[in-house]
Amino acid sequence: MRKRIAVLIFFCGLLLFAFSAFAQKKDVDPDGHAWWQHAVFYEVYPRSFADSNGDGIGDLNGITSKMDYLHDLGVDAIWITPCFPSPQVDFGYDVSDYEAIDPMYGSLADFDRLVAEAKKRNIRVILDFVVNHTSDQHKWFLDSKSSKTSTHRDWYIWRDGKGPDQPPNNWLSTFGLAAWKYDPATKQYYYHYFYPEQPDLNWRNPAVERAMFDVTRFWYKRGVAGFRLDAVDTMYEDPKLTDNPALPGTDKFGRPNTEEKFNKKLPEMHGALQRLRNVADEYDAVLIGETWTQNVSELKDYYGEHNNELHMPMDLLLTNLPLSAPVLRDHIAGVDASGGWPTYVITNHDIVRSYTRYGDGTHDDAIAKLMAGFYLTLRGTAIMYYGEELGMQNNDPKRKEDVKDPIGVLGWPKEKGRDGERTPMQWNAGPNAGFTKGTSWLPVPASAQTHNAESEHKDPNSVLSFYRRLLLLRREEPALREGDYIALNNSDPNVLSYLRQYKDNTVLVVLNISATKQKANFDLIQQGLASAQANTMLASGATAPAGTLKSVSLEPYGVYIAKLTK
Ligand code: NOJ
Ligand code: CA
Repeated sequence: MRKRIAVLIFFCGLLLFAFSAFAQKKDVDPDGHAWWQHAVFYEVYPRSFADSNGDGIGDLNGITSKMDYLHDLGVDAIWITPCFPSPQVDFGYDVSDYEAIDPMYGSLADFDRLVAEAKKRNIRVILDFVVNHTSDQHKWFLDSKSSKTSTHRDWYIWRDGKGPDQPPNNWLSTFGLAAWKYDPATKQYYYHYFYPEQPDLNWRNPAVERAMFDVTRFWYKRGVAGFRLDAVDTMYEDPKLTDNPALPGTDKFGRPNTEEKFNKKLPEMHGALQRLRNVADEYDAVLIGETWTQNVSELKDYYGEHNNELHMPMDLLLTNLPLSAPVLRDHIAGVDASGGWPTYVITNHDIVRSYTRYGDGTHDDAIAKLMAGFYLTLRGTAIMYYGEELGMQNNDPKRKEDVKDPIGVLGWPKEKGRDGERTPMQWNAGPNAGFTKGTSWLPVPASAQTHNAESEHKDPNSVLSFYRRLLLLRREEPALREGDYIALNNSDPNVLSYLRQYKDNTVLVVLNISATKQKANFDLIQQGLASAQANTMLASGATAPAGTLKSVSLEPYGVYIAKLTK
């Protein structure tokens, strides 16, 4: 009998072992790359993507109705910015319930349908996780505020003032004014790095960590493939509340500058992110970070020493660089050599659109194609922003009274807010660019007449057609998906050239980052490709004589992508 029990226990153990090995088995290719390393992500700002019910605000059913568009475009995952219940002070980044959908956007059933429709088209869904703060209307904060002894009091950062009418220290909110709000009922201040309606959570309280980690489990179980983590660098603050050091000058809100030494990028954040990663690993989910860094070495820290932190810390440094071949070459060399898998982004809902940032008024579409030819051919994962593929431009408010984003109201006219980069997706040349049948919450720019999905779909030379061809190339060509990055012609001041190489597959990318015609010469002897044949895969304003590649002639901002075969 004993023997039988022992055998039974042995087999159960074996089964359990086999099961856990199976559960832990990650879906990777022969090079050890996971799905997200081959993927192109696409950021959807739900208020502005597609409005299905005519209230002028985009919604989940709107997004679902455009799933075929996203599939045909060739993206692998969509990241939806917050669609949870929210008073919308910061347009969703003030979450009042992490485990529901704001009725303005739909319901949980709509969300499940969205995920199912996405899945049918091999598109994964990523949600936004606002880790630093909740809304002041979240039940945790309402309880926290209710009394000094409430269950959730220590879930937020409450402190006495330094004296009458004096906040606890000199920390400032990045959205203007002070970072402390006085609560007359309990006679203490609470801390908010963003708007006063966005109180910071106290991540030093283990109960906060547990509750927040459970939020991610709730969504993983609903089929969510990962999270974009909002504002990670503000998760922790110095518990002693040391004053930040003063710096010379004033900021855009007219306040004296300070160095955010004691309320940003505290090392404790890495521990919390690593623990959050453990939860993500249980579900094979991916974590993307909103990682604003000073340099590449800081970016490297977010991967974790053993690649055990964020899978995809965004390289947001790229969004601040000028359009210059030497600058971009240096930057990419640094990121590529940093050891982590790069995540490239050229714009998002907080940053002026790349079309507007880089456009010179003469070559705008060529520059939009050039930018695509750049960030979508690098080694790494790319995150697009909706409408980039159309050449959408910023449509900034012209008058203060039209501004919706509160930072634009407070900081006008130096700070116009972020409405300009959040305008409706341009589906066609009709009213409101086909975004809504009602009154759109933000106005579309005049360029929607020409730069819209319907018109551009019919035009083989459009920005959209270029993106579609490029995304297809990226999907089909192993060198573009997996290949090493090999910089060429390092001293060329105008033309950025590189190879992507994987086993026997080599792709050459040549980008004229200048407003004048250029000729780039190649010998490729060092790479053993001196007599390789070049077959053009995609070109915009660029030509090369057929056969052995010796030079490429480029129009202003021309792009040339070719397959090299020995
Ligand atoms: C970063 C988000 O991208 C931005 O839109 C938001 O206002 C802040 N974090 C605060 O959540
Ligand atoms: Ca709607």
